[in-house]
Formats: sequence, C-alpha cells, structure tokens
Amino acid sequence: MKALVVGGGGREHALCWALGASPLLDGIICAPGNAGIARDARCVPVAVDDVEGLVALARAEQVGLVVVGPELPLTLGLVDRLAAAGIRAFGPTAAAARLEGSKAFAKAFCARHGIPTAAFATFTDAAAAHAHIRRHGAPIVVKADGLAAGKGVVVAQSVEEALTAADAALGGAFGEAGRTVVLEEFLAGEEASLFALCDGTHALEIGTAQDYKRAFDGDAGPNTGGMGAISPTPALDGSMVERVMGEIVRPTLAGMAAAGAPFRGFLYVGLMLTADGPRLVEYNVRFGDPEAQAVLPRLMTDLGQLVLGALDGALNHMDLRWLPKHALTVVLASRGYPGAHATGTEIRGLDALPTGEDLFVFHAATRRDGDRLLASGGRVLAITGLGDTLAAARERAYAAVDAIDWLEGFCRRDIGWRALARA
Ligand code: AMP
Ligand code: GLY
Repeated sequence: MKALVVGGGGREHALCWALGASPLLDGIICAPGNAGIARDARCVPVAVDDVEGLVALARAEQVGLVVVGPELPLTLGLVDRLAAAGIRAFGPTAAAARLEGSKAFAKAFCARHGIPTAAFATFTDAAAAHAHIRRHGAPIVVKADGLAAGKGVVVAQSVEEALTAADAALGGAFGEAGRTVVLEEFLAGEEASLFALCDGTHALEIGTAQDYKRAFDGDAGPNTGGMGAISPTPALDGSMVERVMGEIVRPTLAGMAAAGAPFRGFLYVGLMLTADGPRLVEYNVRFGDPEAQAVLPRLMTDLGQLVLGALDGALNHMDLRWLPKHALTVVLASRGYPGAHATGTEIRGLDALPTGEDLFVFHAATRRDGDRLLASGGRVLAITGLGDTLAAARERAYAAVDAIDWLEGFCRRDIGWRALARA
C-alpha cells in the first residue's frame, strides 16, 4: 500500500523515514516535502493548505494511507475530506482538531471533564478583559484563542504588559485568531511534553520530550517553533507518565468520544509539572517539531503498523518497543530566525556525516539547486544524536553540527541543559 505524508518540515522528514521502514507500506509520497525528504519519499509540490489538491493527489496516486503532519490542514478539515472520499487518513477531524485550533474550546473542554489545567476566563471585550487583569494582578498569561503560529501567548510579568497584550490581540494583531482572548493563571514549574497515539478510544504513550523554545542559549531571546529537544525526558518518569495518561490523556479521549468527535491521531500534551501535580498547558493535535525528530529514531516498533492499528481502533492490542537510548536533537536555523532571515544560502558538508544508527539528519527547509543544497526557510535542519547517556547523545549531535559548513546558519549550543543539570 502507498502512503502519503502531508507536510514539508523536519517532523515530516522523520515521519517519512520511519514509515519508509515499514514492510506494510511500499512507497511513500510527501506533499510538498523538501530536498532531504526527497531521499526517503517521492515529493509532490502540493501545499499543506490546499485541501482539494491533497485529496486529488491521494486519489490519483491511489494511496491507502495518509498521515498528516502539521495542524493547519487538520483544522481545515483535510481528514474529513479524505474520509468522505473513502481514503484512510491518520489525524483528527476538524471537530477534534479544535483541541488545538481554539484555546477557548480546549479550556472549556478541560473544565467540563475535570482535566487539570490553569484557571482561566475568556473575553471578547477589552474593558472586561482589563477589569479581569486588574482584579487578578500579575503574573498572568494572555493567549489569542486561535492559531497564531506560536506568537499568540504572552506570559505577562506586570499588569501593564498584560493590558498591552490583551489590547494587541483584541485589536487584531493576530487577525481573527485573537478576537477572543483567554486569560490564564500563571503556572510555575518545569515544562515537559508527552505524545500519545490515539485511535478514538485507546491511547498509547509514544514518547516524552522537552523542547527548547527560545532562540538563544540560556533560554534567552524570542520564542520559536523549537530549537531542539531531548527524548525521553527525566522530568516524566514512569509514575508521572501514568499520572498524565490517567489524569489527562484518557479523560481527553473519553470526553471527545462522548462529544461525538473521537480523537484519532497524535495527541501532544504540553505540561507544567507544578508542586500540585501535572497541569495541561496546551493540546496540540499532531506530533511536535522537533520532538518527532528526537522520539522516532528511538522507536523500534513499526510506525506503519501502529498507525494502521490506530485506524482499525486496535491500539489496545498493541505495544511499543524502544531502543534503550537517549536522543538529543539540535535545530540549525537561518540567522535572524524567528525574525527576518535570508534564504537560498548554501549548506555544505552533509554528505560526509556518519549518519546511520546513532546519527540522523532531518531536513526542515531545504531545496536543491543542481549539486548545491540551499536553505529555504527559518528552521532548516534537525540533527539527532542517540547515545547510551544524554551526554553521549549530545556529543554525537554537536559533533555533526560542527562538521556542517553553513556560515549563514546558527543553533543553540545548550540543548539538553535542563535535563543534564539534574544529573
Ligand atoms: P502555549 O502556546 O499555550 O503552549 O504557550 C506557549 C508557552 O507559554 C508555553 O510553552 C509556556 O512556556 C508558556 N505558558 C503558557 N501557558 C502558561 C501558564 N498558564 N503558566 C505559565 N506559562 C505558560
Ligand atoms: N515544538 C513545539 C511544537 O511542535 O509545537
């Protein structure tokens, strides 16, 4: 059976690589893909928001399975459209994707189902939002309701900052996404993420991770999509994973099923580990990027079999096996990211890297120009090292980073510091 992976980033490269190893699948297509993905899949230039184009591609290629990487096509209803066309697709429907697409929906859902999360209130009116902020005081967290490409959240340290953030969102800084704002209680603690593979009824934990969201060393600089990640994270040991599955993941599946929108796909729960226990910070309805690049190289179980099992509603009969190793992923980005940056700059030295068992180079935004490999976006490469210890994984990843010749790129040098500082 042929499979189509939707997306063109590092996460999708990791998905194509893992699915490509499945004996159940013969031939991976990726839309739109990138120059690195082209080594593991046949890339077809259809954009991730071109829902009709993607349905037409899946039909024309007679694919038996579609796996959707990013949130945008999910919230646009790609999986619904594919299902209507009789094509099996792994990912939530538009109704289920509201867990990520609307923070107001997600918060109200948590409140209804007793899922532990920060206290909150939702506003569309500036005066009412101001009154709430003044009554509550700082710190307080201001969030645009809809998808805002990671820019819609301000952790305000002062009342003034919170008022400004609420005004910006309500005033249209994020378009429609910010016409509703959610004001949240500030949660103190360590952040960690857990991924669950879901079939609508059952959930299997498919990895834990910690990502490094700030652009620069020491967790300084602006928020990004993620500059690196480790997996697994020592912040979530076996008993904490069980708590998160029991207190957050399984009630989420039960609540969505009861609401008539069963959740199938990768569920990403962003957590704050507070003194009072784990609290949900956010849901994402897809795998993390770059967390997938750290998690999937450790997965020994066939991902194709898992995804097809999830589509059959049979995850209760499946189990996961992992390499007993640590993974550490470093993102190489174009200088200036997440702000303005040049593209079309040349990257050299990738072919000489000792990739294989313990070193993986996933491409996030590259294109070929003849023999040259060019950067084509902000986050460009994700380098994953595996090792018996996290320190060994770090050494392997950074040795590869240092062997890459790309003057116009940068990376953080301290990925993993939080976990390594515990040891
Ligand atoms: P979100 O997009 O909801 O994940 O928020 C982005 C980031 O803001 C999170 O990764 C946290 O670092 C921070 N954040 C969000 N909500 C809270 C909260 N209630 N308390 C403290 N930090 C938060
Ligand atoms: N690395 C964070 C995300 O995928 O949203």
